[in-house]
Amino acid sequence: MFLARLPIQEQLGKPAERNNMPSTANNDIGSAGLASRSFIFYIEVLGMGQCNLRCPSCPTGNFRDVNNPAGAMNPELLQQIMAKAVSECVVACVCLFNWAEPLLHPKIGELIRIVQQHGVPCHLSSNLNDIRNLEAALEANPTEFRVSLSGFTQETYGLTHRGGNVEIVKENMNELARLVKKTKATTRIQVLYHRYKNNLDDEVLMKAYATKLGFTFLPAWALFMPIEKLLAYVENDASLATITAEDYATLDKLALPVREALAAVEPYRNSPCTLQQHQITLDFRGNTMLCCGIYDADKYAVGMFLETHLSDIQVRKESHSMCARCTRNGIHVYLTYSAAELQAVALRTVFRRYSPFFVAIQSIWRKRPQWALGKTSQCLTRISVRFSGPSTPEMERLMLANTQTHVPSRLITQSSTVCGGGLEDDTKDRQWGKVKSLQVC
Ligand SMILES: C[S@@+](CC[C@H](N)C(=O)[O-])C[C@H]1O[C@@H](n2cnc3c(N)ncnc32)[C@H](O)[C@@H]1O
Ligand code: SF4
Ligand code: SF4
Repeated sequence: MFLARLPIQEQLGKPAERNNMPSTANNDIGSAGLASRSFIFYIEVLGMGQCNLRCPSCPTGNFRDVNNPAGAMNPELLQQIMAKAVSECVVACVCLFNWAEPLLHPKIGELIRIVQQHGVPCHLSSNLNDIRNLEAALEANPTEFRVSLSGFTQETYGLTHRGGNVEIVKENMNELARLVKKTKATTRIQVLYHRYKNNLDDEVLMKAYATKLGFTFLPAWALFMPIEKLLAYVENDASLATITAEDYATLDKLALPVREALAAVEPYRNSPCTLQQHQITLDFRGNTMLCCGIYDADKYAVGMFLETHLSDIQVRKESHSMCARCTRNGIHVYLTYSAAELQAVALRTVFRRYSPFFVAIQSIWRKRPQWALGKTSQCLTRISVRFSGPSTPEMERLMLANTQTHVPSRLITQSSTVCGGGLEDDTKDRQWGKVKSLQVC
């Protein structure tokens, strides 16, 4: 799924560039036109939902009433899929995952090799709780290997990666670093940290841990998925899915709240959907799904990939009633983080969470300045929110308003000194709107 979706943004360019892409609406949908169009393939190597964990933001954990078929992709089938795919379009990369745990496939190494033999980069994403096939995967030297997690302590991680054990993950991260050296893999290792309201403090610790091992660290605001549940929630349509008490609890944990996010992306509702236009999702049987955000494999399949020309698949996707409902709500923009406004929505939630702390500190400042200074420094450090995303006037206004209201300016200046120059900008004028990055000290 979607953080799974980040490669789409990386491979297909920034939102602004994507907006300049040839528009989707049937103008190049013939086979000749599609031959030059770039697609990212999400190929599920196990049954959708076959995972050792039950994360509550993922349908594998929150949509157990859908019974997707179980099984494992046959390498010969993948061989045929790859041959057809590269003959019909430009395959930007293949992600061998969607709603399952790819490292559980006993032939994962062979599958990675098949993808790369076609000259196509292969990406993997794992929760890294079970590494029985990790060495075989690295021997095949995939282009990118992502470790998905959401905490440093079990108390935090266990809430959002249900069924997982972060101490095992940390051990396995060490083993991953060791195996990369042993196999001489050139694989890029990325740690993708799912940000919730409650796990920002842990982020600092995990970032230090991952960086020390030589891994790239990338945070992303956690989403609520899949599309059936999102639509059931925003359109109040119980025929699509039931929103359970546990779902409400998950929604409440999001730093990027769904309703606020969808309101913020309203101006982009009519923009083309990147997933519809530049992505193909297959299940382990080679059945084409509407997109990677959908979970019910039988209800939202649009044809067997090997038996259906890509141009026909695209016609079926573009005319699908689910896409009309999804875009009407801006879900396609939310799922791909395709609007800078989403960053502002998330930051607003984070500031709301931390501002009572700053107010309390301010009242203690006169009596115990050293203590207040230390605590503020610690808090600023731990928030660790990077303002490196696209800046918008709304975001700058928000940051300025929050810091001016809640943080005494001398604390900002002195905290940055304590942090050893952690604030990457001139803090003298207290213009946090201009601060590019609040670094972890
Ligand atoms: C559903 S997972 C399947 C692969 C593997 N089990 C894993 O978790 O990495 C596919 C991708 O979705 C991302 N993902 C999972 N939960 C997410 C969430 N709540 N918000 C955004 N991305 C999420 C993961 O980081 C992963 O890259
Ligand atoms: S580990 Fe991945 S597939 Fe498994 S439940 Fe979590 S997000 Fe879903
Ligand atoms: S419009 Fe929605 S349902 Fe359709 S492909 Fe895009 S994200 Fe999927």
